[in-house]
Amino acid sequence: MVTAAQQSGSAIDGTRTFPKNFLWGSATASYQIEGAAAEDGRTPSIWDTYARTPGRVRNGDTGDIATDHYHRWREDVALMAELGLGAYRFSLAWPRIQPTGRGPAVQKGLDFYRRLTDELLEKGIQPVATLYHWDLPQELEDAGGWPERATAERFAEYAAIAADALGDRVKTWTTLNEPWCSAFLGYGSGVHAPGRTDPVAALRAAHHLNLAHGLAVQAVRDRTPAGTQCSVTLNIHHVRPLTTREADVDAARRIDALANRVFTGPMLQGAYPEDLFKDTAPLTDWSFVADGDLERIHQPLDFLGVNYYTPTLVSETDGSGTHNSDGHGNSPHSPWPAADKVSFHQPPGTTTAMGWAVDATGLYDLLRRLSQDFPRLPLVITENGAAFDDYADPEGRVNDPARIAYVRDHLAAVHRAIADGSDVRGYFLWSLLDNFEWAHGYSKRFGAVYVDYPTGTRIPKASARWYAEVARTGVLPGA
Ligand code: FCB
Repeated sequence: MVTAAQQSGSAIDGTRTFPKNFLWGSATASYQIEGAAAEDGRTPSIWDTYARTPGRVRNGDTGDIATDHYHRWREDVALMAELGLGAYRFSLAWPRIQPTGRGPAVQKGLDFYRRLTDELLEKGIQPVATLYHWDLPQELEDAGGWPERATAERFAEYAAIAADALGDRVKTWTTLNEPWCSAFLGYGSGVHAPGRTDPVAALRAAHHLNLAHGLAVQAVRDRTPAGTQCSVTLNIHHVRPLTTREADVDAARRIDALANRVFTGPMLQGAYPEDLFKDTAPLTDWSFVADGDLERIHQPLDFLGVNYYTPTLVSETDGSGTHNSDGHGNSPHSPWPAADKVSFHQPPGTTTAMGWAVDATGLYDLLRRLSQDFPRLPLVITENGAAFDDYADPEGRVNDPARIAYVRDHLAAVHRAIADGSDVRGYFLWSLLDNFEWAHGYSKRFGAVYVDYPTGTRIPKASARWYAEVARTGVLPGA
């Protein structure tokens, strides 16, 4: 058998060839692009509510219109085809399919995703559907949200509806996108919807998101043909200690537990890490973990989706850092329960428009570590990319050399990880389109395609052309 590592190669001129079946894609999320917030039976999600709350989102921006993808989907799929993408990762809006979060599905909502996936398949683009990218139906939040077990049960029902309706077309499913953000930014620091600031609620939310994942995997597997792939996408933090001092190394361990192992433990190994229980003991005894939950959460997965943007640098509190990390918004409340003795530092190097340090070695190290920790689990980069202050020049062109450099360096890191033995199957650029960047509103542009918001006009940036060539040839040019 020829392994991926053997298939991929580097040439003397610095070009790197990726394995033959490597999947080249791009990603989006429902609330960030769809708009049509009140159309065809869709009801508010927690993000609609949050965005309408004064002071929550920069400039008062909302996803009401966004990129208007709900109406322009055909044009957007045509753009993907033009860019030669092999796969498209998108998310289903729960409140579009099951508006109150319970009960029967809305046909019009399902039809939208049926049309979209048909068009993708017609153009030879593999649909990769995420069930949850943060738009919880508001009614479920009103009933307690993710800190409550019932939300996980509702999610399993919704997953069953989605699998029944789309399982003949969609062969690759992702349950959750970045449950860390849902739990710890949504219920801990409050910089994401629903904006609560209760560390115990955040830990409870993490557990019920884990449970939701396990139940949804079961629901999808029960209803879809053999060979259907199930996965979850985690924003695994690559946590580095500021120094080799024992206290700093321990700070990194603590954050690794709260950021990563709180999910990978139960999902991939069937148990929460003991050190997580110990660290959080002053807050909770975790009695919300019921008998049988861990078996339900621990489902076999076909791959792990990894989102990576920047590394995380921590130390024991020394007065110089902050309690926050990764530019995840400003809040007096920490997203890290029981970690008051940890400080976060700006990693060295240049930054993107998000203020995130550009460091592709973090991606390499992360992939290598995951391959060592979970040797039989294939990996897919489900998000990687960068925001820059892009603009259309007088000729209507958008030149974004910094994004090209960012993506090239990160793809080189992926290539190196494959060459060193990591089983990485694909890469999804975040994002296809400029879009609603959560609490930053429309101020941050991550797209390969520029969106002129007043008119909705799409302009492929230079990086889109560059990425299309890489996707077409499977070859990464030298720097
Ligand atoms: C990730 C999210 C995605 C996008 C990027 C920049 O955390 O999954 O929706 O906002 O960050």
